[in-house]
Formats: sequence, C-alpha cells, structure tokens
Amino acid sequence: MISYLHIIYFFIVIIHVFSYHLPVSKCPEEDSLRKCLDQYYVKGPVHFRDNFVAYNKDLNKQFNKRIIIHFPVAFVHPIDVLDVQNTIKCAIKLTYPIVARSGGHSFEGYGLGDKDCYLIVDLVNLNKITIDITAQTAVVGTGNLIDKFYYEVNQLGFAFPAGSCPYVGVGGLIMGGGLGFLNRKFGLSSDNILDAQIVLANGTVVYNVKNYPELLWAIRGAGNAGYGIVTDLTLRIYPIQKVISSFYFEYDFDQIPLVFLLMHQLGSNLHQNLTTTIIINSNSTTIHGVYLGSTSKLQYHMKEFIKLSTPKNISYIENNWYNTIIGDQKESEDKASVKLKSFFIDSKGLSNEGFKSLMKFSRNFRCEIISTATLIGGGQINEIRRHETAFVHRGFLFEMTIIATLNSENNICLQELEKFSQEFQRNYTSYEGYQNIIDRQLDNWQCRYYGENFERLVEIKRKYDPYNLFHWNQSIPTNTKISCI
Ligand SMILES: Cc1cc2nc3c(=O)[nH]c(=O)nc-3n(C[C@H](O)[C@H](O)[C@H](O)COP(=O)(O)OP(=O)(O)OC[C@H]3O[C@@H](n4cnc5c(N)ncnc54)[C@H](O)[C@@H]3O)c2cc1C
Ligand SMILES: *[C@@H]1O[C@H](CO)[C@@H](O)[C@H](O)[C@H]1NC(C)=O
Ligand SMILES: *[C@@H]1O[C@H](CO)[C@@H](O)[C@H](O)[C@H]1NC(C)=O
Ligand SMILES: *[C@@H]1O[C@H](CO)[C@@H](O)[C@H](O)[C@H]1NC(C)=O
Ligand SMILES: *[C@@H]1O[C@H](CO)[C@@H](O)[C@H](O)[C@H]1NC(C)=O
Ligand SMILES: *[C@@H]1O[C@H](CO)[C@@H](O)[C@H](O)[C@H]1NC(C)=O
Ligand SMILES: *[C@@H]1O[C@H](CO)[C@@H](O)[C@H](O)[C@H]1NC(C)=O
Repeated sequence: MISYLHIIYFFIVIIHVFSYHLPVSKCPEEDSLRKCLDQYYVKGPVHFRDNFVAYNKDLNKQFNKRIIIHFPVAFVHPIDVLDVQNTIKCAIKLTYPIVARSGGHSFEGYGLGDKDCYLIVDLVNLNKITIDITAQTAVVGTGNLIDKFYYEVNQLGFAFPAGSCPYVGVGGLIMGGGLGFLNRKFGLSSDNILDAQIVLANGTVVYNVKNYPELLWAIRGAGNAGYGIVTDLTLRIYPIQKVISSFYFEYDFDQIPLVFLLMHQLGSNLHQNLTTTIIINSNSTTIHGVYLGSTSKLQYHMKEFIKLSTPKNISYIENNWYNTIIGDQKESEDKASVKLKSFFIDSKGLSNEGFKSLMKFSRNFRCEIISTATLIGGGQINEIRRHETAFVHRGFLFEMTIIATLNSENNICLQELEKFSQEFQRNYTSYEGYQNIIDRQLDNWQCRYYGENFERLVEIKRKYDPYNLFHWNQSIPTNTKISCI
C-alpha cells in the first residue's frame, strides 16, 4: 500500500539525494560487477545507485558530516564469510577498489573509500557475539557496534576495554588500538585480540589468524589499514564487579595548569583500576574518571588529588559497568561535522607554555572546541613494548585529542586548527598521533601513526596484498621510500 506518508517520504529522499548531487552516470564496469555478484551467488543485500532509498540509507550511515561524500558503486551486505569472499573475488576480477565498513565512524569517511565508485562491504549483518565465560573470551562479528557488544558481555558479568561511544564499530575501533576508561587496567582493545578470521586480498579465508603470527601482529594496531576484511575477532574479556564507580571533578578554567601539574605528579601512581580523562572546554575543565570498585575506595585513591586541587564541584556515581560507560547516549546526537587532532604526551607531561597555549587557543577559537587528555601512564598499555604489536605508542603519559565541531565559519576554523595543531605538536608534544583519530591533513602520518613499525607493516602488506587491492589515502602501502627509524 502506498500511503500518503510513503509519498512524503519518497520526496524527502529525493531532496536528500539531490542535496548530495548523486551522479547519474554509471561507474566503470558496473554491469559486469552486477553480473559477477550474481554469478558468485552473493546472498546478502546489494544496493546499487538505482536502488535509491536503500542506497541513500547506506550513505547516511556515515558519522562525520564534514566529509565530502564519495558515491560508491554499490553497498554489499554479506551475511557470511562466503559472501565476503565472493565479493572480494569480483573485486579482484574487475579490479574494483573495495573497502570494509563496520560502524561508519571513520573521522575521514574511509568506510566509503577515498573517491567515487568504491565497492563497499558493509559488515552490518556479521553481528554474532559468542561468549565463553569459562575461557573468558568472546568471538565478535566485526559488524557489531560497541553498544551491543558491551551490553552482552556485561549481562554475563564481563567487561572489555574499548571506547565510550556506543555507535562506533567493533571492526574499525578494536583493530586500530581502542582507548577508553579501562585502558589502565586492561590495556588497549587491540592488546586483547587473541585471534581473528580474515578474508585476504586473494580471496582466501584465514580462519585462524593466530596461525599467521605476522598477520596477527599487524591487525593488533593496523588491522583497519588494509590487510583484508576481518569478519570476526576473538577477544579476551574480563570479569567485572556488578557495581563500579565514576566521578566528575569540576574546576574553573584558570585551574587547568594546576590540574595538569597534579596529574603529572600523581597520575602514573594512581591505582590501575582507575582511568581518568581531563576534559577542557572553552570556559571550564572537568576530570572524569572510572574506578573498578566502590565510591568509598575511589575517594580514598583520589584523596590527595582532591586536597591539592580543591574542585569546585565533586560528584560520584555508582552503577554497573555498561551504564557507567554508555549511559543514555543517543544515536541521534552522534552525528556531527567534526575535525579531530591527536597527540601523545610523554612522561614529562605538558609544559607550562603548552597548556597556556592550549588555553589561549581554546578561549579564542571561533568554533566549538573540546580537548581531552586521557591518562595512560602507569597502566597496562605501557607494559607492552613498542614493537610487540603494530600499535607503537607506548610509554606515554597522556593521549590528547582536540575535537573541533564546525559551524558556518568552518573553513577558517579548519585553517586555524591546522596551524595551531602543527605548532602545538612541534613545540610541546611527542611526534606521534593516534591512528584511530585519523587525519587526512597530517604530514608524515606513516611515521606518526606507526613509528618504527611502519616498515614491517609495509612488508606484511606486500606479502598479503601484493596488488594493493585494499587501498585508500591512509592505508598501508605495498612499498615505501619513507623510513621511520
Ligand atoms: C563519536 C566517536 C567516538 C569515538 N570514540 C573513541 C574512543 O572512545 N576510543 C577510541 O579508541 N576511538 C574512538 N573513536 C575513533 C574510532 O575508533 C575510529 O573512528 C574507528 O575507526 C571507527 O570504526 P568504525 O568501524 O565505526 O568506522 P568505519 O568507518 O566503518 O571504518 C574505519 C576504518 O576501518 C576499516 N575497517 C572497518 N571494519 C573493518 C574490518 N572488519 N576489516 C578491515 N577493515 C575494517 C574501514 O575500511 C575504515 O578504513 C571514536 C570515533 C567517533 C566518531
Ligand atoms: C592466498 O594468500 C595466502 C597468504 O599469502 C596463501 O597462504 C594462500 O595460499 C593464497 N591462496 C591462493 C588461492 O593463492
Ligand atoms: C561557558 O559558561 C557559560 C556560563 O557559565 C555557559 O552557559 C556555557 O555553556 C559555557 N560554555 C562552554 C563551552 O562550556
Ligand atoms: C580492581 O578491580 C578488580 C577487577 O574488577 C577487582 O577484583 C579488585 O578488587 C579491584 N581492586 C581495588 C583495589 O579496587
Ligand atoms: C555539581 O554537580 C552535580 C552533578 O553534575 C550537579 O547536579 C550540581 O548541580 C553541581 N553543583 C554545583 C554547585 O555546580
Ligand atoms: C611555538 O613556538 C614558537 C616559537 O617559540 C612560538 O612563536 C609559537 O607561538 C608557539 N606556538 C604555539 C601554538 O604555542
Ligand atoms: C586521496 O586519494 C585520491 C585518489 O584516490 C586523490 O584524488 C586525493 O587527492 C587524495 N587526497 C589526499 C588529501 O591525499
């Protein structure tokens, strides 16, 4: 039945599509691709451009509104690993550029590739979660979002260290590191990858990546950078208390130097059950922390910090782990036009000039700006050496992120942010940046994201994807002249 509402919806969709200037022309070899996907019996839904409504819905899944959208030739939604394999076989046959998409939360929109006419393998239907409470492991389809994964493990009394945004994809986040409020206790998400299933660029399925130690090494930090399409991950999960604690300490803006100074002095010695983030707005600052234990114990661990910093407001909350991290965050609030910059701060901390410079910039910036400094020092991340996995950033005190939410002055904001970030990095922080806060403008990203591990990553790429089937602006290349040693 075509109701009145359907007709209105149809027009809204048309307006929406035109606002993207959907190209009417076909992609090269589009008809051959259709034929190929049929011949190989790909079972999951396939949405080409002429399937308007479904195609547009797929496009709209992208999180970052800042990105100029690229128009894929089609979205394939595999229902099993065989579908992924057959889709890759068609991409090989027709030399179609192909990328995986999990949650669509890449800050540079790489889940749509880096130009029009990519073939997108949207993993949304690979959403199984199998939990083994005896082995303390979970096998998680990479199409899951963090929200569902957290909810299911917490129902069985477990937790997993990853981010705090519910609608980010398991596929994109976990393999590129994965920082969050359990990092000091349980490390990075990628440190907890035990095994994986991946479809390689030659169409072969590797059911147990752990039998390929170099591939396992690569996906622990660079698994979202072009080694194949990972269909599930076997992860270490951790038993967790029924009730944990969190806190917010609020301060005036001019107390930022004191807060940083104290965090430099006391942060690395805080109990590993405690992970904190300093959040800097343009006119105030807050420390938000999560503690695995009761509020009274948390108060004990933060006693000295409170005494020396005298927050103007203190609040403690007890809840289960899922509610503490995810709470009532809603998907609709999740879409935004943003640009992010990431920095790692070494054990000396941010200098006096450093936070003064950040404060000045935060006050004067024309767009909305929030900076966060997540405590890593004294935690599990630093117990692993730089070359042990592809995630190189070890031994730092903080990971710092600047989040700019753009408005009508977005071009000026982007320019100012770019200039400030380059100087800020040069003057006050280490050379490195976090690959999951991916940034198209970042110079020498190869060394900043992967450090001295980059060359080995290139070698492994050459071995498993010699023709560079999985490629976009910031994927690992098959050869390089860049040396990061
Ligand atoms: C609102 C928000 C909050 C965030 N919070 C955190 C946080 O707390 N901690 C943190 O560490 N990071 C955080 N991030 C960053 C996040 O980790 C990255 O943006 C991540 O890459 C997003 O993953 P995705 O699957 O949603 O994105 P997608 O756009 O689907 O994928 C990102 C990249 O990974 C590749 N990829 C995805 N799935 C696969 C797969 N199965 N196999 C191979 N390659 C794959 C894609 O091709 C693409 O290049 C946040 C991002 C956003 C937007
Ligand atoms: C695909 O590549 C892998 C890894 O190099 C190799 O083990 C496998 O035999 C290859 N498969 C085919 C069909 O060539
Ligand atoms: C700054 O403070 C004012 C008033 O105290 C408040 O209304 C506003 O939301 C604050 N802005 C930010 C970015 O925190
Ligand atoms: C730290 O957390 C673990 C695991 O959640 C718990 O067993 C332990 O009692 C906690 N220790 C303290 C000091 O809170
Ligand atoms: C302190 O924080 C709590 C929780 O966020 C809030 O409800 C309360 O109004 C705050 N008090 C003051 C004085 O700002
Ligand atoms: C970096 O240092 C230079 C030289 O000391 C100074 O001019 C510049 O303002 C600094 N930049 C920032 C962002 O602090
Ligand atoms: C990204 O790659 C595309 C080609 O795939 C190219 O046209 C574009 O200029 C590149 N962008 C940047 C910023 O390097």
